Amino acid sequence: MLEVRGLSFSYGDFSVDDVCLEVGEGEILTLLGPNGSGKTTVLKSIYGLLRPRERCVFIDGKDCHSLPLRERARLVGYVPQSHHPPFPYTVLDVVVMGLASQLGVFESPKKEHYQKALEKLKLVGMVRFKDKPYTELSGGQLQLVLIARALVQEPRVLLLDEPTAHLDFKNQVRVLEIVKRLAGREGISAVMALHDPNLASMYSDRIALLKDGRIKAIGKPDEILREEILEDVYGVPVCVLEFNGLRIILPKTEVIQ
Ligand SMILES: Nc1ncnc2c1ncn2[C@@H]1O[C@H](COP(=O)(O)OP(=O)(O)OP(=O)(O)O)[C@@H](O)[C@H]1O
Ligand SMILES: [Mg+2]
Repeated sequence: MLEVRGLSFSYGDFSVDDVCLEVGEGEILTLLGPNGSGKTTVLKSIYGLLRPRERCVFIDGKDCHSLPLRERARLVGYVPQSHHPPFPYTVLDVVVMGLASQLGVFESPKKEHYQKALEKLKLVGMVRFKDKPYTELSGGQLQLVLIARALVQEPRVLLLDEPTAHLDFKNQVRVLEIVKRLAGREGISAVMALHDPNLASMYSDRIALLKDGRIKAIGKPDEILREEILEDVYGVPVCVLEFNGLRIILPKTEVIQ
């Protein structure tokens, strides 16, 4: 289980303050909040790309940031919000690189590693692109490859920063279904940042609403996705409809009265 105890980080003119989260085995926690509210900062701090002020990230009680990098890489997978491919590796090689922490320093990947990578590419529907340079993918295809790269490590904790941002309607659901399945069947704890409150409602066990670097509210989707709470966080009128037991969240505009 992932515990974040009082995470604080400052860029100077922006800070994340005292973020506390607990994500159980098999649980999906979604960070929701306006642009610039600190979602990416929180995820990067959990992963250790940013150094929070105190030691505050624990997995099964172990201080995650003091673990050797290789050990940490086995525990936590991270799918970044944006990524600029530096070199035209093939798609398959990029996914195999997700296994770097499981190889010896001078060890080359073997057949079984490529096999694992192919399985994950298949899972995200990208296996037919395996030999293509990943500098030549569309934004959504690149996102799917990065998800496969995080999955191939088979981490205990999966951090996903807007995993659906560049994806079409079908692939948004495909990726979130994969996360749900991994949580349900393999007990992975997932923390993801999303923008769409409807997808958050469908795929989260709990939601943390962030505003100005602080958690404004945290709880089950039906406790959090309420008109007055969303209006306060986003500063727009919101209407929440119930349909077949589902919550549908829409901005209140002249089109929807
Ligand atoms: N490298 C950086 N240096 C200085 N300030 C930064 C840096 N990265 C982000 N910030 C600032 O930190 C704040 C939070 O950014 P963050 O990327 O965490 O927001 P976010 O909630 O992920 O937003 P979005 O929904 O747009 O992805 C913003 O005001 C941003 O300008
Ligand atoms: Mg972000």
